[in-house]
Amino acid sequence: MTFALHPHATAAGKVILLGEHAVVYGEPALAAGLPEGLTLRATPLGVTTEVATLSIPAWEIDVQLDIENEHPAARAALAVLGHCDAPLRGYRIVGDARIPARAGLGSSATLTVALARLGLGPRAAASAILEAATEGERVFHGAPSGIDAHVACHGGVVKFSRDLGANRLALERSFDLVIVPTGVPRDTAVQVAGVRERLAASPEVYEPLIRALGSTTMAGIDAVLHHDLARLSTLMNSAHDMLNALGVGHPQLDEARRDALEAGALAAKLTGAGGGGCVVALPASGAVDAVMGGLTERGHAPLIARIGPP
Ligand code: MEV
Repeated sequence: MTFALHPHATAAGKVILLGEHAVVYGEPALAAGLPEGLTLRATPLGVTTEVATLSIPAWEIDVQLDIENEHPAARAALAVLGHCDAPLRGYRIVGDARIPARAGLGSSATLTVALARLGLGPRAAASAILEAATEGERVFHGAPSGIDAHVACHGGVVKFSRDLGANRLALERSFDLVIVPTGVPRDTAVQVAGVRERLAASPEVYEPLIRALGSTTMAGIDAVLHHDLARLSTLMNSAHDMLNALGVGHPQLDEARRDALEAGALAAKLTGAGGGGCVVALPASGAVDAVMGGLTERGHAPLIARIGPP
């Protein structure tokens, strides 16, 4: 039980290199945290009975945390803070976001994990943070695998599976990824439900794809640990084709991918739930500026993510 919100908290965004969707069915995924994806600051209002507010200008969120409010951010925030037994009144919570919302970069998990940290304080165990954050994740996504919340909580480069949770990988060398937002918003729950329907209708077609995506992740983890970018690039390109076959592609993801490859990336694939959102591209060592420049010339607004030790 806490009687006050902690004044600030942060959580990491995430980029999935391999294994999205398959992770829902028990396969492993490889993901990396995007540090300080969201920082929340909680300021007491003069009146402790006044309804709390949550505003994140970059995501166009400005809601009252009122139980009548149907806005998903308000419902998720109330679910998380309620689970923490934290105050639901008397605070203004403001967020500074460094990742776009609804783009497959884990924005909702940054919100639920940062809220859990405001509610439980900096000394809370990761398991307690994740338990509280999961209450909010259910509002956004129904039955998520948990990968977004784990990465938002722990950051770093992780192998995640539903059974084993997140295991941090100790990379000896870092490498850069380039993230290309398409600007097409997507809904994780809709994409996950679509895969579930296709699996139920034709398991003989889609189950092998899910297993192949899991094997691709295992091979990708080995490639990342050996800094074998050529092998990683082959796996990422194959994963994009498999995700398209799974039905979670989008023409603008394919266009962004083509642009990344034309700009000199070794590989590019959709990342996260798909149906919109972002492409993640892998430049060759030393080629990140060229890939960034080529993408910018083609009208994109790419972001760099450093993976591994600083
Ligand atoms: C979403 O970031 C990743 C998905 O695999 C869904 C999930 O794991 O909950 C598409």
